[in-house]
Amino acid sequence: LTFRRSCREGICGSCAMNIDGTNTLACIKGMDEIDGDVKIYPLPHMPVVKDLVADLTHFYAQHASIMPWLETRTNQPSQEWRQSIEDRRKLDGLYECVMCACCSTSCPSYWWNGDRYLGPAALLHAYRWIVDSRDEATGERLDELEDPFKLYRCHTIMNCTQTCPKSLNPAKAIAEIKKLMIERRI
Ligand code: SF4
Ligand code: SF4
Ligand code: FES
Repeated sequence: LTFRRSCREGICGSCAMNIDGTNTLACIKGMDEIDGDVKIYPLPHMPVVKDLVADLTHFYAQHASIMPWLETRTNQPSQEWRQSIEDRRKLDGLYECVMCACCSTSCPSYWWNGDRYLGPAALLHAYRWIVDSRDEATGERLDELEDPFKLYRCHTIMNCTQTCPKSLNPAKAIAEIKKLMIERRI
C-alpha cells in the first residue's frame, strides 16, 4: 500500500488522507478514536497517483500563486524587519498551517471549481501575508484576489474549519479577506 509520510508528528502534512469519513493526518489520528473497521481513502476529489497518494501539483501551484513570502519595497533594515508583539500575534492561527490539503479537499466549492477557486488552504496563506505588518504589497495581494472565482467561491460551508487537523480556521481567514475587500472600497 503506497502512502506518504515523513515526520510522524503532524508537522510535515504529508500523510493527509480520508480516515473514517474525515480528512485528517494519519499519524496523529488514533485507531482508538474509531469504532469498528478503519476505512481509509485518498483525499477526496483529487487525481490519485497511487493508492493513498493524491496528486497535489495544482494545489501547490495555487499556493505559489498567492506569493507566499514577505514582499518589501523599502530599504533593507541594517539588522532585521521588526514586528511588535501585537502584530506578531496576528499571525497566530495562520503560520501553523502544514499545507496538508485536508481543508481544500473537503470543500465542496473546491471540488466543483478547484481549477479557478483557490480553496481554503491557499486563501489562509494569502491572509497570513496580507496581515503581516512587515509586508508592503497588501494592495497588490488584495487586487489579485478580487476575482469572482479565486476568493468569492467560498460560500462559508465551514467543512474546511471542521476538518483541519491543526485546529485552524481557514473559513475565518477567508471572511477576513472579504471584509478587507469591502473596507478598502469605502
Ligand atoms: S468555508 Fe469556504 S473554503 Fe471552507 S469549506 Fe466552506 S466554501 Fe470551502
Ligand atoms: S488550514 Fe489546516 S487543513 Fe488546511 S492545509 Fe492548513 S493545516 Fe491542513
Ligand atoms: S507524517 Fe508528517 S504530518 Fe503525518
